[in-house]
Amino acid sequence: MEYNPFSLEGKTILVTGASSGIGRGIAVECSKMGAKLVIHGRDLGRLEKTLSMLAGDGHKAIQADLSKQEEIDRLVEQSPTINGIVHSAGIPKICAVKYIDRTLLEEIVNVNELAPILLTTGLLKKRKLQKKSSVVFVASMSGVFIGNIGEASYAATKGAIAGFIKSAALELAAQGTRVNTICPGLVPTSILSLSNEVFTEEQLKDTMYGRYPLKRVGTPEDIANASIYLLSDGSSWVTGINLLIDGGYCLT
Ligand SMILES: NC(=O)c1ccc[n+]([C@@H]2O[C@H](COP(=O)([O-])OP(=O)(O)OC[C@H]3O[C@@H](n4cnc5c(N)ncnc54)[C@H](OP(=O)(O)O)[C@@H]3O)[C@@H](O)[C@H]2O)c1
Repeated sequence: MEYNPFSLEGKTILVTGASSGIGRGIAVECSKMGAKLVIHGRDLGRLEKTLSMLAGDGHKAIQADLSKQEEIDRLVEQSPTINGIVHSAGIPKICAVKYIDRTLLEEIVNVNELAPILLTTGLLKKRKLQKKSSVVFVASMSGVFIGNIGEASYAATKGAIAGFIKSAALELAAQGTRVNTICPGLVPTSILSLSNEVFTEEQLKDTMYGRYPLKRVGTPEDIANASIYLLSDGSSWVTGINLLIDGGYCLT
């Protein structure tokens, strides 16, 4: 086979939130790079659709609601031993600071912050992460590199993950395991319609797309390519970073 430092041949990769958007794109592109995938989602129909899109065979799908600890535990139990994980499952929340309350915070912290951290610790405790694994969290440019009006609660969860990886990367370096985040700019997925923002395509073009120096918003494949880099041996000297993928947005 031709030498390719970014090949995922021989690696088993777990992708959460693979039933939609960025997670689905990551799973599909990783399968094309030779990985065996363990795909996770909450909606079984959408998860099976992703399964049908994967290249190669031997993949596995596991359904779980990550807002519940018992389902995180079951996902750990049902997962085979893996060489890498991409935590992509997440939810948005748009809410002005003065209207943030405990219910809203608990909901978003539960899914965006507690779930990926507790899934990681669960996999470590059950020895499901091989030595020299790669752990990748999908954070966001929001909360790590910039702020956006209405996104304080969401940003708080993503900023927390960006902080978590700094210590986790130090601790897990002893076993050769690397821990990083990817911080995407805007990638139009179903997360936009979930965010209570009702934008028409025209409004998006006028108010958001034009702000990207590279003249386009992101695609799930852009984020998948960054994931492939961090999961592959090509990034074996990279740990503890928050990798910004934003078409130059944060430069402006
Ligand atoms: N899109 C963007 O512009 C953007 C920018 C920066 C960061 N991000 C981050 O990228 C990640 C993926 O977002 P996306 O745009 O791909 O959104 P998406 O299309 O809405 O996908 C979200 C995924 O998370 C899963 N999920 C949500 N709540 C869950 C729960 N309680 N338990 C288990 N799974 C749950 C969904 O599962 P089901 O569909 O099966 O319910 C789905 O697979 C998120 O962490 C998001 O914060 C997105």
